Amino acid sequence: MRLQNKRAVVTAAASGMGQAGAEIFAREGAAVVAIDVDGARLRQVVDGIKAAGGKAHAIEIDLLDADNCRQSLEEAVRLLGGLDVLWAHVGMPGLREVENLDVAAYAEAMDLNVRSGLLAAGAAIPHMRAAGGGSIMFTASTAGLVGASVSPVYSAAKFGVVGMAKSLALRCAPDRIRVNAICPGPIDTPMFPKFFDPKASAEAAAKAQAAVLAAIPLGRIGQPQEVANAALWLASDEASFVTGVALPVDGGFTAR
Ligand SMILES: NC(=O)c1ccc[n+]([C@@H]2O[C@H](COP(=O)([O-])OP(=O)(O)OC[C@H]3O[C@@H](n4cnc5c(N)ncnc54)[C@H](O)[C@@H]3O)[C@@H](O)[C@H]2O)c1
Repeated sequence: MRLQNKRAVVTAAASGMGQAGAEIFAREGAAVVAIDVDGARLRQVVDGIKAAGGKAHAIEIDLLDADNCRQSLEEAVRLLGGLDVLWAHVGMPGLREVENLDVAAYAEAMDLNVRSGLLAAGAAIPHMRAAGGGSIMFTASTAGLVGASVSPVYSAAKFGVVGMAKSLALRCAPDRIRVNAICPGPIDTPMFPKFFDPKASAEAAAKAQAAVLAAIPLGRIGQPQEVANAALWLASDEASFVTGVALPVDGGFTAR
């Protein structure tokens, strides 16, 4: 098993890629703390992991709150008896508009996409240092590698996540803590439709989705498990010489 005896935290673990990550980490031998604001779905995920013979705990909490980010990590470390792996996956599409910017909505997008990961990593680092190393992964996006007209704010946040990963990789290397960013392209989760204009007509929405598909060389959107598999590898000792990377998992979208 690829994460035997590892202690892992996954945020946004009640759905989509985070759920797939919590499940595969547990299947590969890790004890997992799954964190999410959606308590009902989170309990289903954790119960499913336990029913399959895995070890998992749930922490229901809103990661938009800064204190919650720190406290949930400390609680996770207490439950796990230490920490080896953090996948700080939580994020949100945020606002699309730029003209007459809604600064409260802007701050929310930045806080969930960037600050929550920084706070989680900041809480995790001392424990990983004490354990002799670890693996931190942030979820950025292809919008953190190339421009995305759909939301300049989202793109700014995800470029920030990539910068945060690279900078922390440099800072944490002496402690043998690897830090990487995962950059998914369009992935088939409940979040995917939220990237499109809710005010668009059905015809315009279909056209926008077709344009996204047409831009993916592999000709389809990705599945949550395909991103979770990348996270599993980055979390594992198989990626022991990989740090500071922004890894696209995007069907070739950013290869053009
Ligand atoms: N789906 C895509 O196409 C796509 C592409 C690139 C990057 N991403 C990134 O992936 C991450 C999540 O995406 P997903 O597609 O797996 O989403 P998803 O919609 O399947 O799940 C998101 C989860 O986050 C939880 N959540 C939302 N706000 C929260 C908060 N304040 N505190 C705690 N939990 C909260 C939700 O309850 C939900 O369980 C985000 O960082 C997103 O930017 C998604």
